[in-house]
Amino acid sequence: MQFFIDTANLDEIKTASTWGIVTGVTTNPSLIAKEGKKLIDVIREIVRMIDGPISAEVQEGPAEAMVEEAFGLAKLHPNIVIKIPMTIEGIKAVSVLSRHGIPTNVTLCFSVAQAMMAANAGATYVSPFLGRLDDDTKDPEAGYRLLEDIRVAYDNYEIPTEIIAASIRHPKHVEQSALAGADIATIPYKVFLQMIEHPLTARGLQIFRDAAK
Ligand code: E4P
Repeated sequence: MQFFIDTANLDEIKTASTWGIVTGVTTNPSLIAKEGKKLIDVIREIVRMIDGPISAEVQEGPAEAMVEEAFGLAKLHPNIVIKIPMTIEGIKAVSVLSRHGIPTNVTLCFSVAQAMMAANAGATYVSPFLGRLDDDTKDPEAGYRLLEDIRVAYDNYEIPTEIIAASIRHPKHVEQSALAGADIATIPYKVFLQMIEHPLTARGLQIFRDAAK
């Protein structure tokens, strides 16, 4: 399973790029707004830091407007992936962009039905949201089951759309993503730091440090 970083913060991306394990970046309007910068300026910086798929989200609206914005963003760099919300207009836009060979990531996916719509439109990626589904259903395995079900449905038809496990809140979500067969997990910076930690690792390190003295 590949790791993308789910942030628009350039310092976080710069640091994560030195780890050698991050192969792509996802952003969304909330993450861009948090940085107080324009989408286009942030994306221009990110493509210099990570040589892999960089998701840039278009503003929700009519398909024609989303396609136009997508063409503009796609011109910035070949690694740009156009993130499009799960609406009928979004599906229309994905169909057009896919015919033009522009990679897309259909976001805000909460059901197998939606994931099938994205796949049939020719989406390169689909992003099921684990954390938001778990929060809404108050079930810590709801997102996990959704991923498992999308994996089965896609495998039934050898669908090439890649599954990006998104809205990841903690390391357990990353484990669930791997066990359910997600192709990619897009992970916030702070969750990467939590993933490296284990109390027995810390205790073991202390034992080795003491021994080395
Ligand atoms: C990624 O593609 C999504 O935009 C992101 O994971 C959403 O996460 P959130 O539910 O924490 O906002």
